Amino acid sequence: MNNHFQGQSLLKEIDFTPAELTYLIDFASHLKALKAQHIPHSYLQGKNIALLFEKTSTRTRSAFTVAANDLGAHPEFLGQHDIQFGTKESVADTAKVLGSMFDGIEFRGFSQQTVADLAKYSGVPVWNGLTDDWHPTQILADFLTLKEHFGYLKGLTLTYVGDGRNNMANSLLVAGSMLGINVHIGAPAALQPAAEIVALAQKYAANSGSTVLVTDDPKAAVAQADALYTDVWVSMGEDVDYGQRIKQLLPFQINTELLAATGKETTIVMHCLPALHDLKTQVGAELGAKYQMDAFEITDEVFNSPQSVVFEEAANRLPAIKAVMAATLGDLFIPDSLFE
Ligand code: CP
Ligand code: NVA
Repeated sequence: MNNHFQGQSLLKEIDFTPAELTYLIDFASHLKALKAQHIPHSYLQGKNIALLFEKTSTRTRSAFTVAANDLGAHPEFLGQHDIQFGTKESVADTAKVLGSMFDGIEFRGFSQQTVADLAKYSGVPVWNGLTDDWHPTQILADFLTLKEHFGYLKGLTLTYVGDGRNNMANSLLVAGSMLGINVHIGAPAALQPAAEIVALAQKYAANSGSTVLVTDDPKAAVAQADALYTDVWVSMGEDVDYGQRIKQLLPFQINTELLAATGKETTIVMHCLPALHDLKTQVGAELGAKYQMDAFEITDEVFNSPQSVVFEEAANRLPAIKAVMAATLGDLFIPDSLFE
């Protein structure tokens, strides 16, 4: 058996090569087609998967659960308040125990070090379902969505506007540059990506032939973009003044004016979700009343426009996560020669 990915963890995108990321995206597309045609793909028959969540989740939790079931595995949800982890037991001890019983572990939480330590001490593949730094299974789904829409990735321009320092900005900037996507970040100076993340992206971009642009000018950021992407203005676990964030990021809101400023009628609009596009949530209603706003990072009009692919992205979390689990744990035939 020669499976190039067997036993690997997905902790962050840069642990993989551009060819490996491309393989995972294309494998996700294949698994999506199998499911659509009701062709069984139970590559993880008899395996047990731990789903460890320090932060809340709808899409990631659902996708890991359904992917595990579709692959013939048994997923077990271990929420923050269900187990000893963090309060009475260290990461290393928890990892050793989980690794002795489960065949793979998903982790969503705060620290990148935690997910790295889980992999180090468990001895089984660990998949990052979001940390403060990276969101690798999200960008696999996003790039699958882009590829389905445009037919290719290399040479596309993706502009991310909003909080340029969060997990989504990091992942899109670095992984996009790895895959030859021109990545533009539009964010105020105080919320631009860390210098080492930009340097990393520039290094990859030089190899893939793409460009990196980081600017505080929203119009310059979105010019000629094939895809406009945004995320919540305050991420999970951040303790910041909402009023200040709103003031900083309002010029970067995706609305009809900013969308028109791409200069392309074919631009698609992306968001990892959940989104504050109206006031129909508890948080949206409270913030809307306090700051006299009816939407935050994206207007409802654009969110629900034909150019928006946000629910395609959400649906693609399933095949993307399934591809990662199957490739790293499925005893498949994926020869090393494909990546030489
Ligand atoms: N996009 C994303 O990760 O969604 P959840 O927080 O619902 O998992
Ligand atoms: N940046 C967001 C992404 C949610 C999927 C957060 O970390 O809350």
